[in-house]
Amino acid sequence: MKTIRTTAAMVDWSRTLHREGVTIGFVPTMGALHEGHRALIRAARLACDAVVVSIFVNPTQFGPTEDLSKYPRQLRLDRALCRKEGVDAIFTPTTAAMYPQGSQTIVTVPSLARRWEGDARPHHFQGVATVVTKLLSLVRPDTSWFGQKDFQQAALVQQLVKDLNLPGRVVVHPTVREADGLALSSRNVYLSTQQRRAAPVLYRALHAGASAIWNGERRGADIQRRMARILATESLATAEYLAVCDPSTLEPLKTVQRHAVLLGAVRIGTVRLLDNMLVAVRREP
Ligand code: PAF
Repeated sequence: MKTIRTTAAMVDWSRTLHREGVTIGFVPTMGALHEGHRALIRAARLACDAVVVSIFVNPTQFGPTEDLSKYPRQLRLDRALCRKEGVDAIFTPTTAAMYPQGSQTIVTVPSLARRWEGDARPHHFQGVATVVTKLLSLVRPDTSWFGQKDFQQAALVQQLVKDLNLPGRVVVHPTVREADGLALSSRNVYLSTQQRRAAPVLYRALHAGASAIWNGERRGADIQRRMARILATESLATAEYLAVCDPSTLEPLKTVQRHAVLLGAVRIGTVRLLDNMLVAVRREP
């Protein structure tokens, strides 16, 4: 497995493979790889001839009071996981390589970034949009994979790729969960034993919202209340938002018609957890 450290070497690698007719699958990450990432890598492996994983903790998507310095970094373990999964190359640029002195350009996707995570983390999505634009321009993949766990991020990336004609197809891979429903996330390592026990309440709340829809409830406010009621049963968890939204615009739905995405963010101690559930309305027989 090759380690690519510079942007120039990344462009060269991609160009050489494309010239040989090799298809490139790309999994962008910030490291601290877990089973969720492994699932993305395996999907990429199946679909493309060569797979590259980027490992870059992107400073521009962290706010001034967020956990950039504490974000888990474990390059040795990440490298081992990638090697075991047959990854062809890892791209590990430095911050100076990605943001050389004098860089100014910022990419924004205003409407999709406005609510939910955008409210809670004001500059987060412009950091994500900017780094994803740069990564896709350097790697020039045929296909890239993003996890559904970060639903708003995945929606924004799809819009970004379409609007800017960035290279490759975007595939959103279903969330990988623990047996008790907790969505896998690099931040789960911060949970104490007691907090870890409390954490699946978010999944249960979303599931209660989805069940309400499957059982015929269509009013967004009532579905939202059902989710909030479940969340309130766990004293360690505080809801930041629980919302019933249109899956393409992420705007709140007064009435669910065909599809909805249930979005949730909770705080457990100092850890913020995100999750979501896509729900299709059952057609009458
Ligand atoms: O989801 C992540 O790990 C990051 O937001 C991403 C897409 C790699 C951009 O830094």
